[in-house]
Amino acid sequence: MGKKIKRIGILTAGGDSPGLNAAIRGVGKTALGHYGMEIIGFRDGFRGLVENRRLKLDKSTLAGILTVGGTILGTSRDKPHRMVIDGKTRDMTAVIKDNYKKWGLDCVVCLGGGGTQKNALRLQEAGLNVITLPKTIDNDVAMTDSTFGFATALGIATETLDRLHSTAHSHHRIIVAEIMGHRAGWLTLGAGIAGGADVILIPEIPYDVIKIADAIRRRSRSGTNFSIVAVAEGAMSRDDARALDSAEKKLERARTLHDKKEAKIELAALEVRHTGNTMRLAKQLEELTHLESRVTILGYVQRGGTPCAADRVLATRLGSACADLINEEHYGVMVAARGDGTEPVPLERVAGKRKVVPPEHSWVKTARRVGTCLGD
Ligand code: F6P
Repeated sequence: MGKKIKRIGILTAGGDSPGLNAAIRGVGKTALGHYGMEIIGFRDGFRGLVENRRLKLDKSTLAGILTVGGTILGTSRDKPHRMVIDGKTRDMTAVIKDNYKKWGLDCVVCLGGGGTQKNALRLQEAGLNVITLPKTIDNDVAMTDSTFGFATALGIATETLDRLHSTAHSHHRIIVAEIMGHRAGWLTLGAGIAGGADVILIPEIPYDVIKIADAIRRRSRSGTNFSIVAVAEGAMSRDDARALDSAEKKLERARTLHDKKEAKIELAALEVRHTGNTMRLAKQLEELTHLESRVTILGYVQRGGTPCAADRVLATRLGSACADLINEEHYGVMVAARGDGTEPVPLERVAGKRKVVPPEHSWVKTARRVGTCLGD
């Protein structure tokens, strides 16, 4: 009797990022063309697995998507164990298991960031065969050298800083550019270095606004009356970082429902306050330096559009390596980028962890050496 043809499910979850389609194509083309497997796409993240919303992936659906931004499968931030169905939050793991059996799947490939790695591990613990690929513009997935999406977003953020330079220069202004990255500073630090920002603020190094103003004033004294401040969306002042740390510790220590509720309220209030952080920073700098300040929030521009060449290569090689692992029935892993190669890393070692910028990272040292103020 011949070997059973393997059937793979594939989905994209979490925030979209450039390179998702290149990765779907990398998995799909290798699985179909090289191994003769079948592949079914599930729409809108884990929700597609619950609601049986599918897209059969074949030669024609996989053609022409390498350069396309977003994801042809759609995405969502739905979690298998806490999904809103008809207005109620429900655990849909059992439904996903039934559908997995119903479609005769041998494995589900989940393309996503930190949250997706956790959700994939949950499905693996529920008995499904799962493999993940690391995707996010934030580059904060643990145990992989890099994630696809990051290089493209880095290019976009850098180009934006380049453009802001000329207008800041003409008007003798401070321009504060807010860059995404969730609670990691990779994108801001990378773009800040590449785009020659005068100040780079990242979540890993809480800042002191006085020190930033001093650096800007020093520039003014030496005849340069403009400054570019690259600020990560997750960056915060030392006081705010201390308040957040204490609220998070309070939540960890809370034993009663009442204490948990209190700690959560405190955290939510801090989050609300943080939404205005970049505007507040620009205002403080204007007051302290007497230079006009403007804010540019890069936002979703960083996630949109065609992936750059580096992301296409990374997504294709991770996707293709993923099909190899499925062929070997090596499940329960994330396909990590390691140097020029790839490495399967057990999901338990990835889920729930975040790769942040180490304070002594070479990018941090480099930024300091070329005279960039890091706010500390
Ligand atoms: O993880 C990617 C990311 O763009 C983060 O940089 C950002 O904090 C978040 O997603 C925004 O999420 P949403 O798309 O849900 O607004």
